[in-house]
Amino acid sequence: MKEKIRRLLKERRAILLAHNYQPPEIQEVADLCGDSLELSIKASETDAAVIVFCGVHFMAETASILSPEKTVLLPRPDAGCPMADMITPEALLSKLAELGPMPVVTYVNSPASVKAISTVCCTSANVLAVVSSLDAPEILMTPDRNLARYAASQTPKTIHAWEGYCPIHDRLTPEDVKAARNAHPDAVFMAHPECRKAVLDMADAVLSTSGMIRFAKTSPHLSFIVGTEMGLMHALQKTCPDKAFYPASASMICPDMKKIRLEDVIRSLETLEGQVKVPESVRVPALEAVRRMIGIAG
Ligand code: 13P
Ligand code: SF4
Repeated sequence: MKEKIRRLLKERRAILLAHNYQPPEIQEVADLCGDSLELSIKASETDAAVIVFCGVHFMAETASILSPEKTVLLPRPDAGCPMADMITPEALLSKLAELGPMPVVTYVNSPASVKAISTVCCTSANVLAVVSSLDAPEILMTPDRNLARYAASQTPKTIHAWEGYCPIHDRLTPEDVKAARNAHPDAVFMAHPECRKAVLDMADAVLSTSGMIRFAKTSPHLSFIVGTEMGLMHALQKTCPDKAFYPASASMICPDMKKIRLEDVIRSLETLEGQVKVPESVRVPALEAVRRMIGIAG
């Protein structure tokens, strides 16, 4: 199946991008695996005619925002993100009416329609750079309350947090971390900023998924407790075969990130099913927020 996918990709002049949480067999066949920021940058730079996005809906939308002339395929159209569904443009506008005018920083894990009315986007890799680039004392951050509280702990600015969350990261508790630390006392604890504040307070490093891979690779430590979705274990182990990685909790599995199988990629490439296209009226303002973020990079 992998050979067939590689052949179809060539025939279609397509590139296959996979998020770090995708199943191992998808990561193995991809042209590029990465975190949300790396994948957005790649989607904006590629000259391929087709982008096959193995991730969830908001990621394919971001690729379509950046590359409207390309065909963007999400091999399983039902792969969504519960956190992205916790905000709508209407709800955001009414929150802003209540708070008064201020810049809105929107995590890429959000619908394109919300990006379209936001000042700038951010990912877990560049949230602090994005927040400090804004010349404003107060900011509204959407939709992840945990990411917003993490940013608030690192800046003197006042950050208003939208009450959304990732159900997978939010379920990691300090008790889970304590148990993992007791089982692996020498291990360094890396946590994703989508985790709750009480968990982040226990972390040795707070990082995006690719940030964790780089950190583990360059760290002199030999063992790590991983506070993010289980899919990252594959890339960590592959990049650092001589180091040990332990999940902070075995329950951190995102069902949406596990939907795409090799068969879905083949079907999508053969039939061009699963196209994601953001309408121009949304895409143009959303592009401004995404471009501003890529300019800041971080
Ligand atoms: P990053 O790879 O950007 O850290 O993403 C986390 C995530 O939850 C994507 O769905
Ligand atoms: Fe959404 Fe969380 Fe799954 Fe990422 S891990 S896609 S934020 S539900």
